[in-house]
Amino acid sequence: MCGIVAYIGGKDAAPILLEGLARLEYRGYDSAGVAVTGKTGGLKTVKRKGRVADLAAAVPGRFKGTTGIGHTRWATHGEPSDANSHPHLDGAGRFAVVHNGIIENAEELRAKLESEGVVFASDTDTEVLAHLVAAHAKDADELEDAVRGALARVVGTYGIAVLDAERPDRIVVARNGSPIVLGIGEKEMFAASDVAALVRYTRQVVHLDDGELATVRADGFSTFTQDARMTAKQPSTVDWEEASYDTAGHAHFLIKEISEQPSAVERTLSGRVDERFATAHLGGLNLDAREARAFQRVKILGCGSAYYSGELGAQLIEELARIPAHAEPASEFRYRNPVIEADTLYIAVSQSGETYDTLAAVQEIKRKGGRVLGVVNTVGSAIARECDGGVYLHAGPEISVASTKAFTSTAVAFALIALHFGRVHDLSPADGRRICAGLKALPGQIREILAQEEQIARLAAQYAQNAGMMFVGRVRGWPVAREGAQKLKEVSYVHAEAYPASELKHGPLALIGPELPTVAVVPDDELLEKNLTTLGEIRARHGRVLMVGHTAPDPKYAEDCILVPRNEPELDPILLGIPLQLLAYHAAVALERDVDKPRNLAKSVTVE
Ligand code: AGP
Repeated sequence: MCGIVAYIGGKDAAPILLEGLARLEYRGYDSAGVAVTGKTGGLKTVKRKGRVADLAAAVPGRFKGTTGIGHTRWATHGEPSDANSHPHLDGAGRFAVVHNGIIENAEELRAKLESEGVVFASDTDTEVLAHLVAAHAKDADELEDAVRGALARVVGTYGIAVLDAERPDRIVVARNGSPIVLGIGEKEMFAASDVAALVRYTRQVVHLDDGELATVRADGFSTFTQDARMTAKQPSTVDWEEASYDTAGHAHFLIKEISEQPSAVERTLSGRVDERFATAHLGGLNLDAREARAFQRVKILGCGSAYYSGELGAQLIEELARIPAHAEPASEFRYRNPVIEADTLYIAVSQSGETYDTLAAVQEIKRKGGRVLGVVNTVGSAIARECDGGVYLHAGPEISVASTKAFTSTAVAFALIALHFGRVHDLSPADGRRICAGLKALPGQIREILAQEEQIARLAAQYAQNAGMMFVGRVRGWPVAREGAQKLKEVSYVHAEAYPASELKHGPLALIGPELPTVAVVPDDELLEKNLTTLGEIRARHGRVLMVGHTAPDPKYAEDCILVPRNEPELDPILLGIPLQLLAYHAAVALERDVDKPRNLAKSVTVE
């Protein structure tokens, strides 16, 4: 997805903008650009299709200015090209605009502007904004008024930063559905779409709300609404380390983040497991025991891997708390005019906290009076702020597009929620203690699984040679199989399909043969025998099987196997997913894929 960086202060803006853009590369992009201005006036712009390194090479030595904006673009309107890259300028070259999001009425606005004689230099929706700001500047005293005037005519989502060559003392930014965060420095200020671009320079940040604008100057900022009412914002401190944004000697962020899972899970658990009372403390839920007991159902919403982790969560809540719980893709939920029930607790899941579909689902629930909690990794993100309470993962920043440590930490957070709800319902103290002990054992057991990386890499290199793979699991193993298939397809581009093992003979068994191997998630639980029967059916059709489970199977069921340590049956799915992450990673490496930035994907999907 697109990224924005802005700087104003006493230093040369360009190197800071380029460094910030490099920090945003992980989000996925196809072109990049920067514009600067300064006291000497005039606007200098360089933009290029390609990588940030190509842009940096194209920026001339005399590209001086202490106020600037930069952008990485992920094409929506118009192909990736130099002309379509941001920043976009008005006809006179006075204003420069960078934009994340989509202007839905861009065509209509473009036609109107063209009829007034405006000549467009690109195919983008963003360029409309630059011309609109210029049009409104004619009757406005301040840049802020011109930007507000332009935004009043726009339908759609945006995070923008606007530079005015005649007002080099400020940058105006605005947010509506696409994040903008301000960074507060010493006599300098920053703005970006993601704190990743800021942490090298400052930890003090301010998140804009939807419908909010800010004037950013070297010595401070002011925020206001679209109708020019001032707003008051409290800065917060980002606790993520700058080092988290480096691969720290690993070949890719993905393997670094997979191997960080023991410490990520420790942080998710930290201070939350109460062995004495056999429960979990989750103060951020903002629910007392009476309220927690009152909910009759739980509905979990998220997209992609966040949705699959929600399926694990629903399973845990049903098992431990005996409350009916169900997960649904947020992207579907929001479009089906959902019935919102007063006695249902809604839980939104998001690593980034900025996924537009999930945010829109949360807003729809709140519009209809529902209670919604968030399970979110990014502190201060839009979803976290929109929810009535929730649980932060504290997994640390996740850079690789494929989610791993956030997925695992989300499952752990759900185990804590399920334990907490279980203990306010009928989960016995003995069972509560059992789960507490299981949770505490997780980090060490994840380390044991990670120690098998070499063996898993060998298997991955073999299995990656197939055109496709089937993933199966039953009940506790089913969300694990779904996430395993998702991970493999997104990073290796090997076609992967997940089915409940119980459904195989209702159709997909027709696909099974020597050319389509199966990865089977088979915990040692009450369904073990049934799972082995399914594996026997696959083997009988000459399908190769890689089993992930607790006990080495008879070779008549599986040719290959990865063993994971046993935890409590309810928590086993959390561990069973880890080898599948390693399998996907090493399949992608074997196939020489762009592991951290798979084609066509972006880290956070802030558009519909
Ligand atoms: C995960 O590997 C994917 N990249 C994707 O499915 C992701 O989980 C989804 O887009 C939701 O993102 P979020 O957790 O930031 O909301």
